[in-house]
Amino acid sequence: MSAEVSFISKLLLSPMLWPAVLLCALLLGLFLWFRALANRLGATLSDDGLSAAARFDLEEARSTAIAGRQTAKFFGLLVLGGYLTYVAVVGTPMYGYVMEWLNLAVRWTHVIAGIMWIGASFYFIFLENNLNRTHGLRDELAGNLWAIHGGGFYYLEKYKVAPKVIPTDLHWFKYEAYFTWLSGFALLFLVYYADAKAFMIDPTVADISTPAAIAIGVGSLVLGYVIYDTMCRSTLILDQGRFAFVGTVILAVICYALTHLLSGRAAFIHVGAVIGTIMVGNVFFTIIPSQKALVRAAKTGQPLDASLGKKAGQRSLHNNYFTLPVVFIMISNHFPSTFGHSANWIILMVMILASAGIKHYWNLLDRGENKPIWLAGSVVSLVVMSFVISPAFEDTMDAAIPTSFEEANVVIQARCVQCHSVNPTDDQWTTAPNGVMYDTPEQISAMADKIMTRAVRTRTMPQGNKTGMTEEERTVLKRWILQGAKIQ
Ligand code: HEC
Repeated sequence: MSAEVSFISKLLLSPMLWPAVLLCALLLGLFLWFRALANRLGATLSDDGLSAAARFDLEEARSTAIAGRQTAKFFGLLVLGGYLTYVAVVGTPMYGYVMEWLNLAVRWTHVIAGIMWIGASFYFIFLENNLNRTHGLRDELAGNLWAIHGGGFYYLEKYKVAPKVIPTDLHWFKYEAYFTWLSGFALLFLVYYADAKAFMIDPTVADISTPAAIAIGVGSLVLGYVIYDTMCRSTLILDQGRFAFVGTVILAVICYALTHLLSGRAAFIHVGAVIGTIMVGNVFFTIIPSQKALVRAAKTGQPLDASLGKKAGQRSLHNNYFTLPVVFIMISNHFPSTFGHSANWIILMVMILASAGIKHYWNLLDRGENKPIWLAGSVVSLVVMSFVISPAFEDTMDAAIPTSFEEANVVIQARCVQCHSVNPTDDQWTTAPNGVMYDTPEQISAMADKIMTRAVRTRTMPQGNKTGMTEEERTVLKRWILQGAKIQ
């Protein structure tokens, strides 16, 4: 069979064919629909009798339709290219290699988009907090600011409402946020969903299937945003303290649920993705529409709905508090002592609250209020937590909790003697590996140090965790060994 024939047959026989075809058809449909819509709106716009407001709305709708058309085209080509690449490399040694480069390219984009987004948002917070609002301002100005950067002087003015004429070159800040989300979502697929068995599913946490794991992942993003948005639309929003409290409790529930359904690493990144989705959702559904309304009012002379600006302000403030937590979560997969711990959801919540506390201190400081208690409280809680979860502290605690040989033996008999016995029952190991047997108390006690190394510290036993040993069982062995591995 020639190479071309085998490629074409792989193309048509791949299990991913139908999902890819359906997705491409959907995107093609969207592309055609948006294109027709943009053309229709373009034709309506040529009517000279339109009022300024109607013209503005039509132009807005048309540019949205064009953006929709381009997005559909971009993703259509991406799915098509992605599917062809997938078929070309799947099952060959190139698969892992191609995945690695895709991962690199998308991750790089994600980090750069994220830096541009959070960077711009920090910069505008800085501007707000440092504007000269008092000396020598024209009537229409809220403030101005002088700055020097990169070898030049900059002079900036903020208007109280809007300039009399809206400039044609008005810079918007939105694509940073959208690209951060899109690249982040693509990364979830590349890293987690494409290899759910390795990265999302931990049978000692929950033995779920790949589709279930992906559904939980994607579902959590949707659910997270819907819950948050509902909170923002309720009367809860009127009381900042209560909003923060309820939000924290709900976030804790999400952390608990995800860490009990997915591997620690995947649970952490999904909590981050929930927060990131909320942040981008705020930009897309509230902040940008409110800015558009501002421009519309200025251009058409129509009255402005003041509640829009207020809502945008609330959501912006929430985004501000989310920045530090979300950045930690995005790098959390480098820190197994956080996501790999048995109390990982509590650790995550402490990290989130403490970093938001640091942001609060920083916000107050920018406004000229120095409340070091927020900084100290946050840093102390991080230090205390890192001490409490340290191996040294845990060993001290474990050594103090009395554990008998009988308790340890129950674990060994349940998880080890399938292989380590005179008569192994394992299908693969018909004689005790390395001659190591755990049939008598003496045999077990004599091997205590090695059991500690293999079954507790490095978790390399049971082999491939074939017998399904749990964290609690490892802790039982650890306590018994720390107390001297006594048989009586
Ligand atoms: C599925 C079979 C299997 C099960 C179950 C199993 N082991 Fe092992 N074990 C092996 C094999 C194979 C080796 C030798 C290869 C190695 O060291 O990884 C081994 C080696 C070891 C060693 C190293 C012995 C040496 O000579 O250095 C220790 C210690 C050990 N196992 C402890 C345990 C403990 C404790 C359990 C239960 C919690 C356990 N094993 C469960 C298969 C198993």
